[in-house]
Amino acid sequence: MLYSIDQLTKLVNESIEKLSFPKEPSHIYDPIRYVLSGGGKRVRSVLMLLSYNLYKDHPESIMQQALALETYHNFTLLHDDLIDKSDLRRGKPTVHKKWNENTAILSGDTMLMIAYKLFGNNVATSDFIDATLGVLEGEQVDIDFEERMDVTEAEYMDMIRLKTAFLLAYALKIGAKLAGANEADQQNLYDFGLQMGLAFQVQDDLLDVYADTAVFQKKLGGDIVENKKTYLLIQALQKANAEQKAELEAWIDKTECDNEEKIAAVTHLYNIIGIPTLTQQCIESLFEAAHKSLDKVCIPEERKAEVRAFAHKLLGRRY
Ligand code: IPE
Ligand code: IPE
Ligand code: MG
Ligand code: MG
Ligand code: MG
Repeated sequence: MLYSIDQLTKLVNESIEKLSFPKEPSHIYDPIRYVLSGGGKRVRSVLMLLSYNLYKDHPESIMQQALALETYHNFTLLHDDLIDKSDLRRGKPTVHKKWNENTAILSGDTMLMIAYKLFGNNVATSDFIDATLGVLEGEQVDIDFEERMDVTEAEYMDMIRLKTAFLLAYALKIGAKLAGANEADQQNLYDFGLQMGLAFQVQDDLLDVYADTAVFQKKLGGDIVENKKTYLLIQALQKANAEQKAELEAWIDKTECDNEEKIAAVTHLYNIIGIPTLTQQCIESLFEAAHKSLDKVCIPEERKAEVRAFAHKLLGRRY
């Protein structure tokens, strides 16, 4: 039987609620419960289950591995918020704000180990390790880029491939591998996930500036404040005229300034340079490329419907 996205999301959420953690030290395990039960779209775990279900019934039989990936993802968010100085996630204070930085470091580290324990030893363990290593490398490159003004679009794509696209790609590959799919299908599903993951991060960059705050549940403008080399900023620096470029650079160079003023000024520059449309076009072409990889997967088209629907749903996401 093929499960729907909603059924799989519900199954993941129910399984997360059933995870049990020790009571002590509470400053390690309370934040883990807080982060894992605090919502989230469950993109990566659901993708893994969907991919398995393309080949086999009972995707719930790999729930442990799906939860491992979801736990790992949530660990990356916990540390990412500390790195990015983000105070709000999923509409709630982040762990380093609600508790403190040491708690964020240690409960994050613990989540990482829990993720590996949940994944266990199986044919996809080395894929899981590769995926999780890649994300950490991508996060470091993202930090390194904050200090640079000459980041190219190609370098940006390499960075987001690691920090974001890897987990979506490996979610699909691992699901297929655990179901015994052939290598060509595993690779095409991986490619599908990779393109979709690139689109997902470009979209995340766009939402960071333009989302509707009522649904976004993160604070707008964080990337602008931190001088993140997002798709938006890289394109803006490239497309701006001399005057606009000087203005952008001046905002980036400012060490002491009012954050809200900086966000408003940079957003205004993005608007007049035409960045929102350009970014939307990039997202759409990456999704198109993703569908082409899915075309190559050798299973009947009707079995792919839910996976395509998932990509479609991501394309329209608002948070
Ligand atoms: C946020 O990921 C981090 C990025 C890679 C952009 P999600 O948007 O999947 O976060 P949740 O789990 O749904 O909150
Ligand atoms: C983070 O990218 C991707 C991770 C590996 C966690 P961002 O820093 O843009 O993610 P958000 O916007 O904080 O969710
Ligand atoms: Mg962040
Ligand atoms: Mg970040
Ligand atoms: Mg972001």
